[in-house]
Amino acid sequence: MFTDPTHITPAGRPGPVLVIGSANVDVAVTTATLPRPGETVFGDSSAISVGGKGANQAVAASESGVGTRLIARTGEDAFGDMIRDGLARRGLATDDVVALPGVATGLAAIYVEHSGQNCIVVVPGANGRLLPADIDHAAGLIESAAVLVLQCEIPLQSLYRAIEVASAKGTPVLLNPAPCQGLDLARVAAQLSYLVPNETEAAQLLGRPVESLDDGRTAALQLRRLGVGCAIVTLGALGCVAAWGAEVRHFPAPEVKTIDTTGAGDAFVGCFAAGIAQGRLPAEAIRRAIVYAALSTTRRGAQVSYPDRAEFEAALVASAAGGG
Ligand code: RIB
Repeated sequence: MFTDPTHITPAGRPGPVLVIGSANVDVAVTTATLPRPGETVFGDSSAISVGGKGANQAVAASESGVGTRLIARTGEDAFGDMIRDGLARRGLATDDVVALPGVATGLAAIYVEHSGQNCIVVVPGANGRLLPADIDHAAGLIESAAVLVLQCEIPLQSLYRAIEVASAKGTPVLLNPAPCQGLDLARVAAQLSYLVPNETEAAQLLGRPVESLDDGRTAALQLRRLGVGCAIVTLGALGCVAAWGAEVRHFPAPEVKTIDTTGAGDAFVGCFAAGIAQGRLPAEAIRRAIVYAALSTTRRGAQVSYPDRAEFEAALVASAAGGG
């Protein structure tokens, strides 16, 4: 049974994109093929850069042209300072990216194959100290946001609390269920205006493989039936499938020379949220987000690979002219 989709129509709700989520430092290595359990392989490059799904999505939203706030936690360490410096360089305020004593900044170990695929292990550290009380403290910010963006690298109790507060305040919620380990989707689905899993997360949420365009269509419809306003399943090079209202649509991705897909999903989510905050309809917000995410895969790293506003505008023009 589908819910009334009217709450996904942006209707020009004013305000910034508010992201509540993780901020990490990413330690990334590249290798020809990912190691199997018990195997040691040689890599050929390494990099330490800023990341975290929350921070990445906030940067993507801001570079897509909307005011953006980020609520996150770091340790009182050099990595925490690195995160705040990175955000400030992208024009984001860091007042709500608070350094906490006695805990390390979140860290992600990222392995990137030459094919561009990656796998990630996240040690949450300070992200685990973003607590339900902090969410209550941010109720005013949640109320004044055009859209609240969440992922699952903070405690699930804080995530549920944020969804509750946003629902009570009438603020649309976009959940990127990553990683979706332990998430009780049934508990929150009806309060989500947008749910944006990748194919792996959609498969985990639904308990069946999502490997093709057809699987993506079925998954988007099944997620929508849980009560979500708009379900968007991202499918890497295949683009994404979105279900909202009575529609299920495939949005192809532009062809680009992909070298690293790390953070591409976050680029999509942040840019899509910006589109919604700008009052765009879902289809237009999705088309823009696909261009933004595709461009991010042509460079190494997560947040550091994201286009700035000028590059994004140029890419949109090229894409409209058929230039990919
Ligand atoms: O989605 C990519 C992000 O996942 C990385 O930046 C890493 O920090 C992890 O949170």
